[in-house]
Amino acid sequence: MRELGTVISFETGPSSQEFWFVVNNGGVKKGQFVQVETSDGLLVARVDEVFKTNRYYQRAESVSEFEKSGKSLTDQFPVGRWEYLVAQVYPVGLFSNGSQKRVTFPVSPGNKVYPVDENVLNDVLGLDVKKGVDIGKIEFHNVDAKLNVTRLFQKHLAILAMSGAGKSYLTSILIEELLNRDRNSRPSMILIDPHGEYGGFAKDPKYSNSTKVYDGYKISIAASSLTAYELSELMPKSSAVQRRELAPIIKELRKDKPTYTLDDLIDAVKNSGIKESKTKFALISWLHELNATGLFSNKDYPSIKDLAFQGNLSVVDLSDIVNLKKKQIIVSYFARKLFEFRRQKKISPFILFIEEAHQFAPEGEDYERSLSRGIIEQIAREGRKFNACLCLVTQRPVRLATTALSQCNTHIILRVTNPYDLDHIKQSSEGITMGVFNSIPGLKVGEAYIVGEAVNYPILINVRERKTDSLEKGMKLEDEISNFTNNKDLNDKDLETFM
Ligand SMILES: Nc1ncnc2c1ncn2[C@@H]1O[C@H](COP(=O)(O)OP(=O)(O)OP(=O)(O)O)[C@@H](O)[C@H]1O
Ligand SMILES: [Mg+2]
Repeated sequence: MRELGTVISFETGPSSQEFWFVVNNGGVKKGQFVQVETSDGLLVARVDEVFKTNRYYQRAESVSEFEKSGKSLTDQFPVGRWEYLVAQVYPVGLFSNGSQKRVTFPVSPGNKVYPVDENVLNDVLGLDVKKGVDIGKIEFHNVDAKLNVTRLFQKHLAILAMSGAGKSYLTSILIEELLNRDRNSRPSMILIDPHGEYGGFAKDPKYSNSTKVYDGYKISIAASSLTAYELSELMPKSSAVQRRELAPIIKELRKDKPTYTLDDLIDAVKNSGIKESKTKFALISWLHELNATGLFSNKDYPSIKDLAFQGNLSVVDLSDIVNLKKKQIIVSYFARKLFEFRRQKKISPFILFIEEAHQFAPEGEDYERSLSRGIIEQIAREGRKFNACLCLVTQRPVRLATTALSQCNTHIILRVTNPYDLDHIKQSSEGITMGVFNSIPGLKVGEAYIVGEAVNYPILINVRERKTDSLEKGMKLEDEISNFTNNKDLNDKDLETFM
């Protein structure tokens, strides 16, 4: 194997936690994995930074004085020969006889450093070569980034990046990979799609049998399946007294009419014996307000069992709903029911993908503006025990509820430049090193760091290209303008004829 360099001695090392080597051969890149043979086994390490040094240029005053004289160091001295590339590396594990150990002893100065054996790398990183979801290639290595499904989705996942960095693209690859598995080994997948981007799955012949898109305007909620408590959560300004009065009315109504509508409930409140007329009118007014959303009827559409059909993808397309409160009510209701059904094992393990998660679980908003935050936080805290997994996708990590984000044990981070978001990621990503953190703003579209539970060490990957056209692309600005202009002419003609 081609030797890369030789371990050198610095004041502080080599130690069991870091060492340096001078590069003798070819380039070494930040983020690349290397290995050193030691008496304890094969030590695998990650290059965290690369430095150049040249003793001719170490003293500023000498360089300046010399160059002031009109001469150049390069003309007078063999400066090129004294330029060295030094790599700073962090050991990640020690391998001997197929098992992995923690590094507790330093390598020796003089040890030779080699490129990592790529078969070893799979074990080092904790990848699942046989059955993992293949989302791309490990940067600098010819190794597929195949993430173990259990490790990735046993707890929760967050996909964090600025707008346009490739979050939805990556999400669609994850879904593609899950849909490519044998149906019996797939969870059910429910995707909250505020921009209507994922409809392509239903049009793709390969996935159309396993995908169902539910349009926002058709969604309905069975009023009768909400308890008094759940209803009052959707009417955050209602008082404790009003809520208390509601419970017995619902109980009575349910006896007469098991699948009642909100209109029925409003009538029941009107005819009830609530003594305080203020309470009665307030309740009626809250219920009217809820009813005005047009979301409630006497049955659920989709039914929870259809929504979480094992092995299927259900896309909840909310693109035609403008009102945020209405979108939050939908997410709150269906997420709660999914979790409830899963707890009772009435539906299969599921992954709930939430695009624009900061809209549904916003940090710091009062309850009235964050109706779905409570249940998202609850699934984040308790879902793991029931295999109810969240995948939260957001371009504003800082605006996503900290409780939810901190329960996401794996973070996939693409390019982020906003300092507030970066700071938030640093606080909430377990195991993120400074080297990884500092390079997040410089990532290109399609480059991503995976940090946390799904991998043994943070890894940089190149997200693969999609195999199918499952994501509906945004149209290019210029195409959209010319499309609009052409249609506008037609529309104007129609209008003229009509006039
Ligand atoms: N791995 C990749 N390979 C090739 N193209 C990619 C890749 N990732 C993203 N792109 C392209 O970059 C563009 C933006 O990607 P995407 O829509 O996924 O961004 P986003 O992070 O979801 O943005 P937004 O926050 O606005 O929703 C798309 O045109 C997409 O096709
Ligand atoms: Mg997107």
